[in-house]
Amino acid sequence: MKLILLGAPGAGKGTQAEVICDKLAIPAISTGNILREAMKNGTEMGRKAKSYIDSGALVPDDVIINIIKERLAADDCKNGFILDGVPRTVAQAEALEEMGVEIDKVVDIEVSDDTIVKRLSGRRVCSACGASYHTLYKPSALPDRCDRCNGQLIVRKDDEPATILERLRTYHELTEPLVDFYKERGKLVVVEGQEEVADTSRLLLEKLGV
Ligand code: AP5
Repeated sequence: MKLILLGAPGAGKGTQAEVICDKLAIPAISTGNILREAMKNGTEMGRKAKSYIDSGALVPDDVIINIIKERLAADDCKNGFILDGVPRTVAQAEALEEMGVEIDKVVDIEVSDDTIVKRLSGRRVCSACGASYHTLYKPSALPDRCDRCNGQLIVRKDDEPATILERLRTYHELTEPLVDFYKERGKLVVVEGQEEVADTSRLLLEKLGV
């Protein structure tokens, strides 16, 4: 299955991508994770992306389109994939079509802006392995330490309050138009994000019929 996960920052795309990835044994491709890895490694692409990400803006379309072209050509994508957080602009969605990528379904995870702010301001990520926690909804066993690798938990720079609001503004302006884009193509499935991660997963898998 070839899937796209749409939704505001913090709607739970990354969390649900992991669930679908386990269930269907297809890779989850997050442009956010690819860019953060490039930033960590100090590559040219990472340096270029940093100022956009840290301010809550989108990275330019040409950078993202190159990442996706390269990633989708890999062998593990032959039987399907989950695109988490890409496309994020109409230009990116059109580029996917031009590449001949045939998407089966686009899942839009709907969550209110107020909930988004609560979720993102409580998120903590492991600086070593990238595992994600939440101070209220998914706390680590030891304060500020990763359960998986004991790495230091940190706040993502773009999860700072002013940046969260800017990411939301960018989402409504540039990414939300994709809801209509995929509705017109008959691909859209809407899932209302629930308070419990497992409840969202159950609804999502039901709607995908898997
Ligand atoms: P990216 O990493 O994709 O950021 P994002 O979309 O803002 O995604 P998040 O990881 O913040 O949210 P999510 O929806 O995955 O939520 P999560 O599951 O973590 O991109 C970062 C930046 O890179 C962008 O801002 C942009 O600059 C750039 N970029 C990336 N792709 C790009 C593209 N295609 N074009 C241009 N620029 C691009 O959940 C969030 C929190 O909520 C977690 O703490 C989680 O534990 C908690 N949570 C989740 N579900 C629930 C629930 N049901 N109940 C309670 N808590 C929950």
